[in-house]
Amino acid sequence: MGLVTLLSGNRSENLFLPAHGRGQALPKGLRQLLKLRPGIWDLPELFEVGGPLISTGAIADSQKSSAAAVGVNRCWYGVNGATGLLQSSLLAIARPGQAVLMPRNVHKSLIQACLLGCITPILFDLPFLSDRGHYSTFNSDWLRNVIKRSQGFQDDIAAVVLVNPTYNGYSADMESLIEEIHSHSWPVLVDEAHGAYFLSGLCSKLPKSSLTFGADLVVHSLHKSAPGLVQSSVLWLQGRRVDPFNVERSIGLLQTSSPSSLLLASCENAIEELISPSGKKRLSTRLNEAELLTQYLLSKGLPLLENNDPLRIILHTGKVGLSGIEADEEFIKKKIIGELPEPGTLTFCLGFSSHKGLARKFVKIWDEILDTYVASEKFSLFDNPPFDIVSKPCLSCSEAWTSPYEKVLIEDSIGRIAVEMICPYPPGIPLLVPGEMIDKSRVNWLLSQKIMWPDQIPSFVRVVS
Ligand SMILES: Cc1ncc(COP(=O)(O)O)c(C=O)c1O
Repeated sequence: MGLVTLLSGNRSENLFLPAHGRGQALPKGLRQLLKLRPGIWDLPELFEVGGPLISTGAIADSQKSSAAAVGVNRCWYGVNGATGLLQSSLLAIARPGQAVLMPRNVHKSLIQACLLGCITPILFDLPFLSDRGHYSTFNSDWLRNVIKRSQGFQDDIAAVVLVNPTYNGYSADMESLIEEIHSHSWPVLVDEAHGAYFLSGLCSKLPKSSLTFGADLVVHSLHKSAPGLVQSSVLWLQGRRVDPFNVERSIGLLQTSSPSSLLLASCENAIEELISPSGKKRLSTRLNEAELLTQYLLSKGLPLLENNDPLRIILHTGKVGLSGIEADEEFIKKKIIGELPEPGTLTFCLGFSSHKGLARKFVKIWDEILDTYVASEKFSLFDNPPFDIVSKPCLSCSEAWTSPYEKVLIEDSIGRIAVEMICPYPPGIPLLVPGEMIDKSRVNWLLSQKIMWPDQIPSFVRVVS
């Protein structure tokens, strides 16, 4: 089947990202635009239109009014996802040779930025939920310990990165974490790729955006957690710790010289949807529906895990000894497509569209799976990752990445330095980072992960020769 034919089909229940549910929840303005003659909206950086880095034109005006509506100094729309804006942000806050503290559940884009910018990632470990194999959130005591231990490295730390919420929808007490970071005069960059809609501040149960707590730079993926087209994203800047000139310069380094006007219009529209009264009303309906769905599934005995994002449903497949990856295959056969299959869970994203009739269908599929699957103990208890509380690559990421390499079996890589990342996607969290020394415990863990993530973890790893 050709791609065009494939894209035209629509016979599944979409519980995956982008969150607009194959167009159903695209904001009205964008839907109207897309009804016009195809391509009419595809414009270059004309004088009237401008671009994210041009100080005049419709895009500059739109960025200014979005920033004002959200109450921050500046914002830039992005056309290369949260990926592009996270990378630009990191390059704006750290110079070559400096270090940045970042958690082990950081998205791979930030490690890539480290190797682009010759920045050292000081990676810190996180509490781990061994019943499901997820990283958990952490509190300010944990962070204080991390900061204390990181000082042993004597690196020049330029900034701290936080990821909140996680892909599965766990959210930390960001206020105390940001306060702790600011007490060291460091800027904080928050990867809020999965939390754009927290901007709506809709109900007390919903976590607040880190912007509320003074985070200096916050990146939203507008297709993951707002109803934007794929690749749409936004970077918000507030306070005086980060120089907007550095941010613009870094965006200019990585952004295409022809940003898509359609994607930029989608950025504007998706943000409006999160903060306008009519958008909030629709969102509120989705949140109520999500609550009802969750209550129904729980009442039917489905093993759901608690999180802080009502629009993300985590099915705890490991609870019955089933891999989330196998469960995903069964759901797909029955035309429900989830977002994040992992060894112990399968996470579904409800997004911003309505899912009438989903509840019964969902329960029926789960019951059918329960009738036929074979339980395995390996999916019910997960080993803690073998990380020290803080660690850093023994060779710089950039140097390792560009070093002559050889390819060895993972089991033969003890004592060698990784040239590449090992990183199942989704979720895109690296298990191994370029420049890291591979020890026996890492090899054992990678091999155990390989059993859990068939097809996602290679048998070989490239190491410095
Ligand atoms: C935590 C996190 N940050 C950033 C990204 C990148 O987002 P995007 O696909 O918009 O580039 C992802 C993608 O999976 C992610 O999970």
